[in-house]
Amino acid sequence: MSHPAPIRPQPRPSRGRAFRAANGEVFRLRAIHPDDVSGLQRAFARLTPEQVRQRTFHRMRELSTEAATRLVRVDPAQGVAYVIVDAAGEIRGEARFHLDADRPSAEFAVITDPALAGQGLGRALMKRLVSEARKRGLHELWGTVLAQNAQMLDFSRLLGASRELVADEPDVVRVRFDLSRRLRRL
Ligand SMILES: CC(C)(COP(=O)(O)OP(=O)(O)OC[C@H]1O[C@@H](n2cnc3c(N)ncnc32)[C@H](O)[C@@H]1OP(=O)(O)O)[C@@H](O)C(=O)NCCC(=O)NCCS
Repeated sequence: MSHPAPIRPQPRPSRGRAFRAANGEVFRLRAIHPDDVSGLQRAFARLTPEQVRQRTFHRMRELSTEAATRLVRVDPAQGVAYVIVDAAGEIRGEARFHLDADRPSAEFAVITDPALAGQGLGRALMKRLVSEARKRGLHELWGTVLAQNAQMLDFSRLLGASRELVADEPDVVRVRFDLSRRLRRL
């Protein structure tokens, strides 16, 4: 079983970078922080049951404090996680990657608040992941998506990912961002 990374003394959450969504609202994109436990739980509660299943591959009614604590404690040697927060400080999107042990690649995941679909939050998060992955010299970001998750498949195709079937797993598709290529929309 994996244990949460030990917490080092944490500075305050970085303010991150401002960005304007398609509806004109200004958000900030910043690294996730250990203080985000309850914020992440509230953000989870705003997801649709379908989104929860797509992201976790399970039906879950709530994000336990234990699970949220694991998600906010990111060991930089293993990966990164970012959130998008609104003017009130509420988390409206989250994305992360976890480094593969044996290759210069990482598994990513992204999710945004359904009330803000199509406003550019997902793209902003992917852009940040790709930029950080390139900085770390990674060649690829990949993700496992349910085959029926047309939203995520369309989103990643639009942003330049290829997709492939996974042997013996007809229910899932693997999407891949080849970081050696120019990803025009990211
Ligand atoms: C997929 C998801 C991240 C998209 O987030 P979003 O904030 O709505 O996306 P954006 O507004 O940044 O859209 C980026 C592009 O993708 C397109 N897009 C977004 N949702 C789409 C959809 N349902 N169908 C087709 N295209 C879509 C947008 O049109 C946009 O293209 P444009 O800039 O040319 O308009 C969001 O719907 C989500 O959280 N889905 C569930 C997440 C999930 O399944 N995660 C598990 C696997 S990682």
